Parts: sequence; structure tokens; C-alpha cells
Amino acid sequence: MNEKHSSTSKNPHNQNTTTHTKKSTDDSITITDNRTGNSIDIPITKGGVDAAEWRKLLPGIWFHDPGFATTSAACSSITELDGEAGILRYRGYPIEQLAVHSTFTEVAYLLIYGELPTQKQLDIWNNQITYHTFLHETFRSNLYRAFHYDAHPMRLLTSGVAGLSSFYPEVSDIKDPDNRIRQIVRLIAKMPTLAAAAYRFSKGLPFVFPDNNDDYPTRFLRMIFDIGHTYTPHPAVVRAMRILLILHADHEQNCSTTAARVVGSSLADPYITVTAACAALYGPRHGGANEKVIRMLRRIGSFSEVDNFIESVKRREFRLMGFGHRVYKNYDPRATILKEAAHDVFAVTGKNPLLDIALKLEEVALADDYFISRRLYPNVDFYSGLIYQSLGFPASMFTVLFALGRTPGWLAHWNEQLVLNARIARPRQIYDGPQQRDYIPIDKRSTETDNGIE
Ligand code: ACO
Repeated sequence: MNEKHSSTSKNPHNQNTTTHTKKSTDDSITITDNRTGNSIDIPITKGGVDAAEWRKLLPGIWFHDPGFATTSAACSSITELDGEAGILRYRGYPIEQLAVHSTFTEVAYLLIYGELPTQKQLDIWNNQITYHTFLHETFRSNLYRAFHYDAHPMRLLTSGVAGLSSFYPEVSDIKDPDNRIRQIVRLIAKMPTLAAAAYRFSKGLPFVFPDNNDDYPTRFLRMIFDIGHTYTPHPAVVRAMRILLILHADHEQNCSTTAARVVGSSLADPYITVTAACAALYGPRHGGANEKVIRMLRRIGSFSEVDNFIESVKRREFRLMGFGHRVYKNYDPRATILKEAAHDVFAVTGKNPLLDIALKLEEVALADDYFISRRLYPNVDFYSGLIYQSLGFPASMFTVLFALGRTPGWLAHWNEQLVLNARIARPRQIYDGPQQRDYIPIDKRSTETDNGIE
């Protein structure tokens, strides 16, 4: 505790806090409980400190971190993300290299098994995935009939994944590694079929069965767009779909993966786990943002309205959808790749008329102090929607496409935490409600609570 000096600073809740600077070569921190004078040294290991040590010194005092902005909830070897440096790597391989050289199913293999497959392993993997693309016919033909004709495809998909588990009685046997892989393969194989079924239902179109001669992106595109065996996607469209799937395949402890890990930690089966992840993804702060970007660009409507819109964002009337990220504070490497990929797609499909508004919006925002000071940059959703739209997908399908890409990532995390025998997720809280009080009979209650019921 030598060579300490103190300074007073403000935390985000405007309470005075005291910080100490200790000159030391130790990779450790020292925490002192000023009520008792007791201290504890905690080693810094791999960029983290062990909360179990904190608990030894401070039982019953919780580390208050809403939104988990400073909390590591897992030790994972799947994806490395350095938000300051704009680095994203799956199992050590840079996303930029995988986007150019790999396929989606190969990336899925990498995420699940930890290594790139040999040709033989990849052939077997692709074969297994292809073998499982069909849905049970009773399920497929009846599944979405219970829904309103214009139900959002993401609601259909989420319900569909949950329902799928009922066909496989062995799903709950999650302790068996072979059974886990069998369910992982099934889910990766059937998600495009479920997603395409949701789309065709929402359009009132007949279902197109998966063609197992196709590769993964082509098979999906054909199930979506084919009318009477006439559709063959342009190679540039398949390439864009492949890149989009790869870029979305994992993103470490994001909201939907955390939802998957929390639900999976109760030893739920993988279908229910992926259902929870889909539900979390649907929200506009997360995967639902890609749909909102397009709706925002349409609402802005013209180049000349961009400045006005930015001003309204600064007045907090709107959020600039597709901007900002909890982790990336300089740039999102996925957005950089997608911005380039967008131009390749537009060369084939024609330029998306909303692109100019998007580019102008980015230019104005990146020059404005509101966005600079908060380190707000385009995220993956800013350009993905423009590409999806140019590929022919309606905005309501964008988050479904995100879910297809993210499925191997969710499952890799689910599998990893089972292998590591992770504990059930169960955070603490700071209780901020009334102290104990006695029940008041209804005729003796004087205060009326404004609960909105009239
Ligand atoms: N537009 C305007 N202001 C923003 C935006 C935005 N898109 N994002 C953040 N800010 C502002 C906040 O108002 C806040 O300002 P303040 O400190 O003056 O109040 C500051 O920047 C910090 O923002 P937080 O909301 O605290 O950041 P957080 O890390 O909690 O949220 C999030 C990150 C949800 C992504 C947020 O930036 C956002 O809502 N963005 C728009 C939705 C979006 O694009 N989501 C997709 C994210 S990528 C993905 O999930 C695939």
C-alpha cells in the first residue's frame, strides 16, 4: 500500500469516488474496506480479476454493474474482440481473412470445434448439415398456420425454433457430447428452412423444399426467392450472402449470446436456448437495428433532410440506428467489410437509392461533436440492411438473416459452457425498495398509486 496518492473524480452516477494510483510492477489490484481497514490483493489474470476474491473481503457487498458493462461473465476461447483496436477474430482467425477465404459452414465448424477442418472433416460436416435440412412434414405444414397472416417473420422463427425441440426426445440429454453435436448440426441445418418457411408464409407463397445439391447460402436463397424452379442466384449475390453469414457468425458476449448462455446455464436444451437468443436478438437495440436502419433512411427520405435528422437525434428525439456500440469505440470491422461488399452487390443489383442518404448520414455524424465525443460509429447493422434490401429481402426479414448467421455462435457458446461445467447464471441485485411493512386492509389504504388503470 506504499506510494499511494488519492484524487477525487465523478462516476456516472455523479457520486464522488476516490481513486488511488499505486506505482507497482505487480499485475494485481489492492482493495481496502475502509470500514474495517482490511485489504486484499487480487491478481490480474488475462485482463480480469476474480470476483471470488472480492467476495472474500466484501461478503454481501455487490459489484453494481447494470448492463454488465464492466463484468466478464465467461472465460471463452471462441471469439476475440478488441473494441479499441477494431479487432474481431474467430478462434484466432481475423474476420477479414475468413470473409474472403472461408465458407459459412467451415466457419461454423471452426466456432464449434475450435480448429479449421481438414477437407475430409469438412466434407463430413457439410454432408451432415445437408442431411438435416428438411423439417418434419407435419411440423412444416402446420407450424405457422396458427399465426396471423402478417406476423413478423422473426416472431415466427422464434416460435418455430422452440417448437422444433418437441420432435427430438433426446434433446434434453445434453451431457452426451455426441448428442450435443447432433442437435447443433440439426439446428444449423434447419434454421434456413425454418426462416424460409416463415418468409413464404408471410408472403402467402408456397413453400420451397431445400435442394441438397446447393451450398448453404444458395440453398437458402432458393428457398426464399424461387418461383416455379426459375431462380438461380447471381454468384455475386451468393458471395454477399456468404460474407453476411460469416460476419454475423459470432460476436462473443453480446446480448443474444448472453441470453443463450444464461438460459443454457440452467441446462435447458439447445432449441430453447436458441429460442431465447432469437428473442433477445429481435430487439431494436441489438439485431433488430438493421430493420430500423432502413425504416429510418426511408423516413429521412432525401439527402437534404439529413442535417435536420441529425439535429433531431442530438435533441434525443430519435436514435441514429446502426450507430454506436458497447464495445467498438473507433470502428466496427464488420461495418468496414460490409461497406465494401455493398458496392459489389450494387454493381449487380443496381445502387440502393438509400445508399446516398446513408453515406451522407455517416459523413455528417462522424464530423459532429455529439457523435465524436461519444465515440459513436456505424455498426454492422448500418450497412447490412442496405445489402439485404438490394438482395431482395423485405426489411422484416433482416433480423431473421442475422439469426441464421449467429446460430453457430450461439451454439458454440452453449456447448463451451457445458464442456466447462459453468455454474448457473444468477446475478445479485441492490435492493432499492421499501423496508418490511405490514399488510394494510383495503378500506384502510389512504395513498393512491398512479398505475395507469382507470
Ligand atoms: N444515436 C444517438 N445517440 C446515441 C446512440 C445512437 N445510436 N448510441 C448511443 N448514443 C448516446 C447515448 O444517448 C449516450 O449519450 P449520453 O451519455 O449523453 O446519455 C451515449 O451515446 C452512450 O450510449 P449508451 O446508450 O449508454 O451506450 P450503450 O453501450 O448502453 O448502448 C447501443 C449501445 C445499444 C448499441 C446504442 O449505441 C444504440 O442504441 N445504438 C442504436 C441501435 C443499434 O444500432 N444497435 C445495434 C448494435 S450492434 C448489434 O447489436 C448487432
